Amino acid sequence: MKGIVLAGGTATRLYPLTIVTNKHLLPIYDRPMIYYPIETLAGMGIREVMVIVGGKSVGDVVELLADGAHFGLDLTYRYQRGALGIAHAIGLARDFVGDEAFCCVLGDNILRGPALEPVAREFEAGPWGAGTLLYRVPDPERFGVAELDAAGRVVGFEEKPTQPKSDLIPIGVYFLRPDAFDVIEHLAPSGRGEFEITDVLNHYVADGRLHAPVYDGQWADAGTVASLLRAAELAASDDAEGRLAPPTQRPDR
Ligand code: G1P
Repeated sequence: MKGIVLAGGTATRLYPLTIVTNKHLLPIYDRPMIYYPIETLAGMGIREVMVIVGGKSVGDVVELLADGAHFGLDLTYRYQRGALGIAHAIGLARDFVGDEAFCCVLGDNILRGPALEPVAREFEAGPWGAGTLLYRVPDPERFGVAELDAAGRVVGFEEKPTQPKSDLIPIGVYFLRPDAFDVIEHLAPSGRGEFEITDVLNHYVADGRLHAPVYDGQWADAGTVASLLRAAELAASDDAEGRLAPPTQRPDR
């Protein structure tokens, strides 16, 4: 399985913190934000990862992560022009992915809990076209939101609805296969002018091939000032419990 980390976007919700730098370089407790999604993919046993960069300080992102050898990874990069959404960014990885299944993790998603290697293996071997992890939050209107039927099955996702139909959101971990690139190619932009990952997930809900287990660890994004602080607290509490590995250093510095 291959991996993708998304590290583009304008991060206006974090201004002034991100006026002159890339959000993914901001500190979360004892390491730069982007270390967390990189570690999430490494924890799945994935070795080949493409980082999609865009927005500010792209050179600094590359300087920080370099070839990925200090994470035990083989990293490559692709540049996303503009902020056209998660699905658009994933579409840029088509040649890199080739004919393998892949996992995309958003660059601001912090997961603390059981390793995801079994979930990745299960998806790879299973019949699904797409997978994500559901998580219960108190403020679902900030995210994609799942709609469930009486039996608790996902019947669709809505992106940032004003009236959320549940408090379960798809977190920024997406398992996909190469046919997702055809789905992405045929997407129309949403009202906010982005190619939405929820529209990709909805395609697989409609044909009954979405895998969406509930994540039983802890999760935070770091896209707003409040969630940036919560993400740091999550990492700090994990460290206090002795579960956070020391930050990886560049071997050549
Ligand atoms: C994105 C997705 C949303 C998802 C969230 C998880 O939103 O569009 O569906 O629930 O990530 O972090 P963003 O926060 O990037 O606007």
